Amino acid sequence: MDSIDNYIIKENWDAFTQQEHDLWKYLFERQMTIFDGRVAQEHIDSLKQLNISHDRIPKFEEISTILRDRTGWEIIAVPGLVPAEIFFEMLKNRKFPSTCFLRKPDQVDYLEEPDIFHDIFGHIPLLVLPTFADYMEAFAKLSLKAMERGDLVRAQRIYWFTVEFGLINTPKGLRTYGAGIVSSFKETVYCVEDPTPKRIPFSLERVMRTDYRIDDLQKNYFVIDSYEELFDATLQDHTALFDALDALPDIEAGMVLEGEVTIAPNRPHST
Ligand SMILES: [Fe+2]
Repeated sequence: MDSIDNYIIKENWDAFTQQEHDLWKYLFERQMTIFDGRVAQEHIDSLKQLNISHDRIPKFEEISTILRDRTGWEIIAVPGLVPAEIFFEMLKNRKFPSTCFLRKPDQVDYLEEPDIFHDIFGHIPLLVLPTFADYMEAFAKLSLKAMERGDLVRAQRIYWFTVEFGLINTPKGLRTYGAGIVSSFKETVYCVEDPTPKRIPFSLERVMRTDYRIDDLQKNYFVIDSYEELFDATLQDHTALFDALDALPDIEAGMVLEGEVTIAPNRPHST
């Protein structure tokens, strides 16, 4: 039987070159110049709490030691994307699979596969928050249920529109908490300020019906009011949820339904 252990590799941190540490520093510092007023403060604070800095590519065990203590999560090294069921099993066990290679200098703006910058700088910080840490585990359990029903696509949509590309409402305006965004220079600004994409209040059912694109900026984002809202959404009766979804059509990326409200972008920022 396939098991998590078959996908875990050795991190091999010593193999990183000085050029790679320098590229990490460049990526880190470039993101920091645009984070203020656009990225969730929890993400920025958590980078500091986990000692993820521009200095060098972090070592997994150093981060895991803090994470285990805070929320019971840890990082495991994997070679790249892993099969969906294995991925959900890892998350269910509070193990976040991270790649351990860094993009090449000519890939600073776009990389199809996740790399260590996306995984560690983008995904790991929010796992310090107890509610988000609980959400990730609950999401994995819901997704395994979805897979049993042959509903992998709907599980992927939840991950995509929350963990990768989620926005949150704050008293100071919209912010992003999605790893796919916070590790992207262009989308960090675009997601909260550009008038083009639609920003729709989060509902798990709506998210699970909505198509997304992987090769371009998003046409719509879903906005939560709190991380508790995300976690609470996973607690509903999964069978009833999937049965209800079976009776509803999918929704195209960027489409707004009749009667649906959208949320205005933030006023553009000077940096
Ligand atoms: Fe990701």
